[in-house]
Amino acid sequence: MFPILYILYFPSLIPLRMATSQQCEPSQQSESGKALKGHIFKSKKVQDPYQCLIFCYSEFTCQSYNYVITGKLCELNNRTKEARPGDFVRDETRFYMRRWKNRVSLGSVPEMPAESCREIKASEQGMAVSGRYWLEPRETKMKSKNFLVYCDMVSVDQVWTLLARFSNSDTKNWMDDSGDWWYDSTQAAGETADPSYNADMISPAFWLIGGSELKITRNDDSGHTPLLQTIGNCLSGKTFRSKITSYGNFRNGSVWSNGKCLGKCKVQYGGQYQTTEGFGQASCSSDLQGADEVGFWCVKGWSGSVIMIGGGGADCSDADHGIGTTVAKLTSFKIKENNRRESDFSNDAWGSITKSYSLNFWIR
Ligand SMILES: *[C@@H]1O[C@H](CO)[C@@H](O)[C@H](O)[C@H]1NC(C)=O
Ligand SMILES: *[C@@H]1O[C@H](CO)[C@@H](O)[C@H](O)[C@H]1NC(C)=O
Repeated sequence: MFPILYILYFPSLIPLRMATSQQCEPSQQSESGKALKGHIFKSKKVQDPYQCLIFCYSEFTCQSYNYVITGKLCELNNRTKEARPGDFVRDETRFYMRRWKNRVSLGSVPEMPAESCREIKASEQGMAVSGRYWLEPRETKMKSKNFLVYCDMVSVDQVWTLLARFSNSDTKNWMDDSGDWWYDSTQAAGETADPSYNADMISPAFWLIGGSELKITRNDDSGHTPLLQTIGNCLSGKTFRSKITSYGNFRNGSVWSNGKCLGKCKVQYGGQYQTTEGFGQASCSSDLQGADEVGFWCVKGWSGSVIMIGGGGADCSDADHGIGTTVAKLTSFKIKENNRRESDFSNDAWGSITKSYSLNFWIR
């Protein structure tokens, strides 16, 4: 039954094919015996496949459609099979067709948000370049709205989402006594979708986007070359907030630890890390951790960092190098004794602290 019907319907597709013949590609063909499941946002009964196509073209967010052959049902999808290959399944009762003309690319407008930068790259492939995109929070219980992020599309497997930025040129946000930016804030602050600014920033991606690895880049490097990237699944699917807050509640002056890092991940360095502040101990290994590690909530004596870069301890300049550094006594977000210091990032919280560039923080 099915092949006969398909042949009967075929003529009605011919005018469309001619109209767009210069764009003809294999993806323009319907794929019989297949359907995309889980992304149907509208469906209705139609006369024939051509009407289904017209229905799709009349809906701004239609990315592709399934046609139910015997029921003449038209199902519009708000994703393509490229975006969600795992949901593209065998289904002998349907055929699948990608929208060819005027398809809005995923993440390009707030009405067509993506789940992640990675999904945008999968959907748009070679057309997806680094830049600003719209994402929608996966956890709707958080009641957050769609948000704009910056995606660094290095390759299909190297898609980074900008989470945060650390700058010494503005007021302390990251080092506020409350620890609010690390722990609690659900308000975006600063230029969340522009990696070139030299000012603090926190993106909703900090608490909404999970991943496996982190990277740090400089705001004055438009290539976003990793100065450091973690290896070995540092985050194992978590968001950065859930990772960093999993070690304890250090809000409001609670002391972090002593003589150790509460967590660590293996890293590799690159780019101009040797001349970037915060990376001063990137080739030193000592008792707190090795040169090829990044540590969380590291403390040695009265010095510490939320994210310590490279070795630390007696032979590696204690623990106030990296991101979120402090010489508070005892080590916490709260400086209880006068004239102690803290910074968003530094080689040494007592030393000179650069204000001329900032560090961007990314997840993939
Ligand atoms: C896409 O469709 C699904 C249902 O398949 C729906 O839950 C979701 O909200 C839709 N997304 C958008 C942006 O319309
Ligand atoms: C932190 O301290 C402030 C005032 O000192 C207080 O209002 C707030 O409730 C405290 N927060 C927590 C999480 O302990």
